[in-house]
Amino acid sequence: MNKSIELHINGERKLLEADPEEPLLYILRNDFALKGPKFGCGLHQCGSCMVLSNGEASYTCRIPCATFEGKKIQTIEGLSQNGKTHPIQEAFFDVQAAQCGYCVNGMIIAALALIKDVPKPSEKEIKEALSKVICRCGTHSRFVDVVKKFTSTT
Ligand code: FES
Ligand code: FES
Repeated sequence: MNKSIELHINGERKLLEADPEEPLLYILRNDFALKGPKFGCGLHQCGSCMVLSNGEASYTCRIPCATFEGKKIQTIEGLSQNGKTHPIQEAFFDVQAAQCGYCVNGMIIAALALIKDVPKPSEKEIKEALSKVICRCGTHSRFVDVVKKFTSTT
C-alpha cells in the first residue's frame, strides 16, 4: 500500500506517495528521472546503483525507499555546482578512464565516500573502496589512477 514518503535528494525535499518497500533506485530513476544510478545486478554486488546517503556509499537496488527517510541522499546528478562538473568527474575525463561507462556512477560514489573519510588514501585503500564496484570492461586500474590523480592535486 502506498504511503507518504519524504526524501531529501540533492539538497531538495521531495514528497511522494509510494510503496515504502519500493527500492530507492526505482524511485530515483522513475519518479525523479535521476538516471545516473544504474540497475546492474539487483543483488548488492555490482555497485552501479550506489548513491551517497549521509555521505556514505549506499546501494539502492534492494533497499526500501522508506529506509532513506531522514537521510541526505546525493546522486551523481547532485555533484555539479553552478553547472560545473565536480573535479573528480573532470579527473575521470582527463584520464579517459571509462569504457562503456556503466559502472562510472558507482566508481565516483565509492571514491567520494572514501575521500570524505580519508582525504589522502593509499593505493590499497583506493583499491579496497573501488572493489565495491564491478567494472565489466575491466578498467579498474584506470579508476584507481583517477582517484590517485584527484587526491594528489587536492
Ligand atoms: S544494481 Fe545495486 S549493487 Fe548491482
Ligand atoms: S567502463 Fe564498462 S562497466 Fe566499467
